[in-house]
Amino acid sequence: MKAVRFHEFGGPGVLRVEEVPDPVGETLVDVTAIGLNYGETVIRRGKGRELFPWYPGPSLPAVLGSEVVGTTAEGRRVMGVPRDGAYATKAVIEHPIDVPDDVSDHEALALLLQGTTAVAAARAARIRPGDRVLVEAAAGGVGTLLVQLAERAGATVLAASSKGGLGYDWDDLEPVDVVFESIGGEVGRRAFELLKDGVGRMVVFGYASGEPLDVTASDIFRKGVAVLGLPRDTTPEEVLKLGLRPSLGEVYRLDEIAAAHEALEARTTRGKLIARP
Ligand SMILES: NC(=O)c1ccc[n+]([C@@H]2O[C@H](COP(=O)([O-])OP(=O)(O)OC[C@H]3O[C@@H](n4cnc5c(N)ncnc54)[C@H](OP(=O)(O)O)[C@@H]3O)[C@@H](O)[C@H]2O)c1
Repeated sequence: MKAVRFHEFGGPGVLRVEEVPDPVGETLVDVTAIGLNYGETVIRRGKGRELFPWYPGPSLPAVLGSEVVGTTAEGRRVMGVPRDGAYATKAVIEHPIDVPDDVSDHEALALLLQGTTAVAAARAARIRPGDRVLVEAAAGGVGTLLVQLAERAGATVLAASSKGGLGYDWDDLEPVDVVFESIGGEVGRRAFELLKDGVGRMVVFGYASGEPLDVTASDIFRKGVAVLGLPRDTTPEEVLKLGLRPSLGEVYRLDEIAAAHEALEARTTRGKLIARP
């Protein structure tokens, strides 16, 4: 099969299409679509272990990626997390999930990891009708779903993005009940200070700036707010039933994944990016 591998950490140029042996395992699929995620650019740069210390990091050469849709030998159309990386024409999925006929490959991939992330984050935030909810990176895959989930819960949504709408200049913003925090650094710090004292909730699930959110127990005590991680209680099957409308971004070929990484790192993307083998 073909796989996009990298032999050393570095820029997008380290990603190369190569011929490698097919993986062996129970649910082998012919991959029809591959989900691309921002976190994979971090691992490719060799920053994975530093930024996600619980993640052992890949042994090189490695195949990146955590989500595919594919067809089994019996003709089942399934999605899931591949055992040996996703950027390939074949994959072994250890816990395959059937994709409903009315859900496209692209939609399925937008709802798999980004979908479970958004739904878990929204649950953790316990949004109440009338809450003011700040969503960072709101044009992204997780962000667009969070906007929908917060609106459904009756919130007033403040969608922050570098691609229009509310940017990251929040000088005149009234305090908010909830922040969905995925940028960290200075942005995360300012978002934390925007939380309403005594009632605010911040859900932290990323640090796209490269700097994890830096708030102390004393900051949390001073403001009387909750800072929450992502609960691990949400399944893709549940997410599929919610009828969310993901934003579908660019579709790349296998040999164009390096360009997709460039776009992710340049912050020019919107919605879910996928590649087609
Ligand atoms: N995909 C997943 O399954 C998953 C799971 C758990 C956690 N996360 C985290 O959730 C966040 C959103 O994930 P996503 O998959 O939906 O990605 P994404 O939104 O498609 O891409 C990341 C976005 O972060 C924003 N950003 C702000 N500062 C940035 C910086 N210095 N460098 C790069 N990007 C910056 C950019 O949006 P603007 O230009 O609009 O600000 C960028 O488009 C990420 O932090 C990710 O690591 C994702």
